[in-house]
Amino acid sequence: MNPTMNLELQRVTKAWGGMRVLDGIDMVVNGRTITGLIGPNGAGKSTLFGAISGLVPIDTGSIRFGDDDLDAMSAVQRARCGLLRTFQVPRPFANLSVRDNLRVAARDQAGESLVRAFFTPGVVRRREAEIAERADRTIELLALRRVADSAARQLSGGQLKLLELGRLLMTEPRMILLDEPFAGVNPVLADELAERIRMLHAGGIGFFIVEHNLNALSRLAGSLFAMDQGALIAHGTPDEVLSHPQVRAAYVGGE
Ligand SMILES: Nc1ncnc2c1ncn2[C@@H]1O[C@H](COP(=O)(O)OP(=O)(O)OP(=O)(O)O)[C@@H](O)[C@H]1O
Ligand SMILES: [Mg+2]
Repeated sequence: MNPTMNLELQRVTKAWGGMRVLDGIDMVVNGRTITGLIGPNGAGKSTLFGAISGLVPIDTGSIRFGDDDLDAMSAVQRARCGLLRTFQVPRPFANLSVRDNLRVAARDQAGESLVRAFFTPGVVRRREAEIAERADRTIELLALRRVADSAARQLSGGQLKLLELGRLLMTEPRMILLDEPFAGVNPVLADELAERIRMLHAGGIGFFIVEHNLNALSRLAGSLFAMDQGALIAHGTPDEVLSHPQVRAAYVGGE
């Protein structure tokens, strides 16, 4: 196993128009743990995930993941390093079934290697069989069997969140960034989702999770970072961070 799997940000800044949304972020997230990121609406959490995953170009600073320097890498290249994210609003192919959404996610990830394999049909057939099997396992894991053949557009909000996670699991993730996985998910499904995240973590995947449901997040994460107005304001155990005066003030101030 690779001993270093830290996500390391140095002096990361990003402005939208004239507004500093990320204001010199320095942080190290242990990629082997479940870590939370909290903060009031507009604090910059999703923008930070965008910066890490390569979808939001940063103005200054640098980002590393394990031994890889991400700065010159596209979002696709970062995903191939095993660093994957979900979106606050899931983005599956609406007209494809759950099963096909999962299969397509694996094929996307294969990229050039699949194109190369195309010239050796035996390899393609084997690869397709592997993908089909992985999709079936993911459907079981996330308890999506009842809707496996339904079009994604027919899914509920909670089921869409599960599909979104499933699409990531079709690749070979080392660390997954989840943007509000519990938003709009009913309490029973939320408990199940938390259980799946724990299981995947036990299987070696790291998680970095943005979440407004502080209860659910605190039960899951070993440590939390808190942001407000583009800056980190606290880091520590969930208890330490949630009782931090600046964190409490940020939440009250935002209401
Ligand atoms: N593409 C964009 N163009 C311009 N401004 C943006 C863009 N994306 C985000 N912003 C602004 O950046 C700030 C931070 O937004 P961000 O989405 O990162 O916040 P957040 O912490 O994820 O909030 P929430 O908890 O509501 O999801 C907000 O003021 C937002 O309006
Ligand atoms: Mg957000």
